[in-house]
Amino acid sequence: MLYFTVYTGCSCARLLVIITPDQSTRPHHDKDDEVEGHMSELAVFTGRAHQELAEKICAHLGIPLGNAEVFEFDNENIFVKINENVRGKDVFLVQTFSKPVNTSIMEVFIMIDALRRASAQRVTAVIPYYAYGRTDKKDQPRVPITARLIADCIGVAGANRVLTMDLHAGQIQGFFNIPVDELTAQTILVNYVRSLKLTDFTVVATDTGFAKKARNFAESLDAPLAIVEKRRTNNVGGLESLGLIGSVEGRNAVIVDDEIGTAGTLVQAAQVVRESGGRDIYAAAVHGVLSGTAIERIEHSPIKKLVITDTIPLDAAKHIPQIMQCSVAELFAGAIARIHEGRSVSELFHP
Ligand code: R5P
Repeated sequence: MLYFTVYTGCSCARLLVIITPDQSTRPHHDKDDEVEGHMSELAVFTGRAHQELAEKICAHLGIPLGNAEVFEFDNENIFVKINENVRGKDVFLVQTFSKPVNTSIMEVFIMIDALRRASAQRVTAVIPYYAYGRTDKKDQPRVPITARLIADCIGVAGANRVLTMDLHAGQIQGFFNIPVDELTAQTILVNYVRSLKLTDFTVVATDTGFAKKARNFAESLDAPLAIVEKRRTNNVGGLESLGLIGSVEGRNAVIVDDEIGTAGTLVQAAQVVRESGGRDIYAAAVHGVLSGTAIERIEHSPIKKLVITDTIPLDAAKHIPQIMQCSVAELFAGAIARIHEGRSVSELFHP
């Protein structure tokens, strides 16, 4: 039996239409054999940015990673060939925007194009880390809004949906003209912090821009919040921390942020905490970009432990004892299964 709920302009009018039985098109299945049948139409592919994460996602879904060739000619042109039939399939293309960032982005456009031309029924771009998220507004004369440009290109390439995690600003969702599901790694990070069994600690936001998310983080941990007041002095990472709103005196601190780039923001926040009388300093961030001299900075900082997720691959050279990586693969797999089955994604966070 297939149920349709039809909404009209009048809020009180809601019609339930029951049409002829069609097992193959049911959006939600209860029996295991039916779920299996439905899942056979699901396919997951990846570009070259983060194969390990794509494989982990597939392991959680219990399906093999799709077979595709992606390579670059001598002239740096990227070539893609999908090596299996995707006609009529519900395809999820996993490609995080990690280094080389611009190649990763170009690759997702080309792979989406290849999948659409191969007659995939639906293509969801799964982008665990959406780079260029900080270039999301025209806040000075003659600058681009690159986060919007990339969103347009993803739509133009032929993606039907986007699944991503902790965008730099939630409003970036609105840059897309296709549905966007934005996951959050907050629970994963909160669980790790809980496992540290810290007492008397304050959650510290690295800047006022992250204060709202940091407050949610603090509430989940039943801890007070403090905020570092930070001002950037130029476009290339120059910044100046001005002080702390709230108190960390005599307390442990957990500094939180959405991403760690050069680690300038994080290390400066740690120094502010230390100068303000903080005791042991821990940190948690979703995206470990860890560019430039980030690793050296962290190694020489007072930060005892930094927990990040695997939305971005962590090169062997970046494996230092201070850094702990938690996987988001199971969460992405859960979201993919739900999108595929037409079930709620938000229930993953509010069961
Ligand atoms: C900025 O608004 C973000 O929330 C992060 O604080 C920033 O991206 C970190 O960059 P970096 O590590 O290079 O200071």
